[in-house]
Amino acid sequence: MTKRYEDASWKESMRIKLDVNNMFAENVGEEHGYTKADVDAMQEKAKVAHKSIKAAKEAGNLGFMELPESHKEIAKEIKEFADANKGKYDNFVVLGIGGSALGNIALQTALNHPYYNLNDEARNGYPRLFVPDNVDPTRLKGLLETLDLSRTVFNVISKSGGTAETMSQFLTARAKVVEELGEDAVADHFIATTSEHSGNLIKIAKEEGMKTYYIPENVGGRFSVLTPVGLISAAFTGIDIEELLAGAAYMDQICDTDELWSNPAYLNAALQYLADQDGKPMSVMMPYAHDLKDVADWYRQLWAESLGKKVNRAGEVINVGPTPVKALGATDQHSQVQLYMEGPFDKVVTFIEVEKYKETLEIADGYEDISGVSYLGGHTFNELLTVEKQATELALTENNRLNCTVTFPEVNAFTIGQFFYMYELATAFAGELYDIDAFNQPGVELGKQYAYGVLGREGFTEKKEEFDARPEKNSDLIL
Ligand code: PA5
Repeated sequence: MTKRYEDASWKESMRIKLDVNNMFAENVGEEHGYTKADVDAMQEKAKVAHKSIKAAKEAGNLGFMELPESHKEIAKEIKEFADANKGKYDNFVVLGIGGSALGNIALQTALNHPYYNLNDEARNGYPRLFVPDNVDPTRLKGLLETLDLSRTVFNVISKSGGTAETMSQFLTARAKVVEELGEDAVADHFIATTSEHSGNLIKIAKEEGMKTYYIPENVGGRFSVLTPVGLISAAFTGIDIEELLAGAAYMDQICDTDELWSNPAYLNAALQYLADQDGKPMSVMMPYAHDLKDVADWYRQLWAESLGKKVNRAGEVINVGPTPVKALGATDQHSQVQLYMEGPFDKVVTFIEVEKYKETLEIADGYEDISGVSYLGGHTFNELLTVEKQATELALTENNRLNCTVTFPEVNAFTIGQFFYMYELATAFAGELYDIDAFNQPGVELGKQYAYGVLGREGFTEKKEEFDARPEKNSDLIL
């Protein structure tokens, strides 16, 4: 059967678009806005960055760029596995954190029914999805005591195979399963998604006879949503993961040029970079669609962990990085927009607009004698949300505030695949502009090592000693 994403005109109609008009002086004024010449001046740098990205891909160092092709077959296999298990479980739980959790949540919120877990009809036989994404005792205990474990499968996701949060979740869930269902149940109730050749999780999974999926070595956590990390829970909840990859492949084609004016990933990154250099490090992503709210959360991790770095590639201390912020329209018009409109000129707002929402809902008529209320009747919520976006966009622009818009024709697996890929590539390109390694995260290590030391992990005694020798807090400063 032909898939809709095999049809060129359907694909073109589903292309997500980047509108950067309001980043330019014509719209936001000369003081803050850019000129075409500013972008042209970056073209040479862009060519060098493009070459470097291509070379890194050829050398096998940018695995995320290979996924749209390399994971086509894997996606088929995952889909078969998920289909074969449909009806066997009522609950699917992702045990993971950071890049091993956020993509799962983003996909679920974007592509499934807004009340998926509560709505049996919408779930259509697929299991509920839970991603605790933390080690909060109340939340995890609450989840484990709520679920019928005999009808639950856990996907333990950890590329390193040793992350303390994830392994603690696993140990506890496993003990509960053993207590209720016996040792033999482990293989049937746990999947492991991890590195094939390193880490403790793969050893455990093999010992336990768990079904295993692999995260390619050259794909880092926050770039891994299109590997089994994101694909398994998506397939188990009925998302078309092949279409998701097709969307990423389409964006890969669109972005296969070193011309800034033709490459949305590069142009976006270049403008965000310019803004950051000009004292506008706050990068707000504000979707006007509730189903994209967790996509903004996914972006926040990608941009922050990749671009916030102490040293450049030559090892010089530069302490760079924009600060990504997530917001939601129209909700945050009543929370954040006052600041965006009148506060410091330190932000770029990226709106996300949806042309066709999944549903249409009319605002009911009423109170004809009260014109301040009755004007709403007969319009739709779709109109209201879209008009509010356009109105906020105009108001920001008139206040000389830099902003741009990513437009989704619809929110579906194809457009979400495009979005993930566009932002992953933008991140790699921004890494080139900052001249940093966008794929490591040394800044999270020290905190982890102290925690390991305190919890008694072998090899971290020194860190425990450092922790114990930390300066005492001045009680005068604790009120
Ligand atoms: O992007 C990253 O590399 C991190 O956010 C990781 O995803 C996170 O720390 C979890 O790591 P792991 O998958 O090894 O458990």
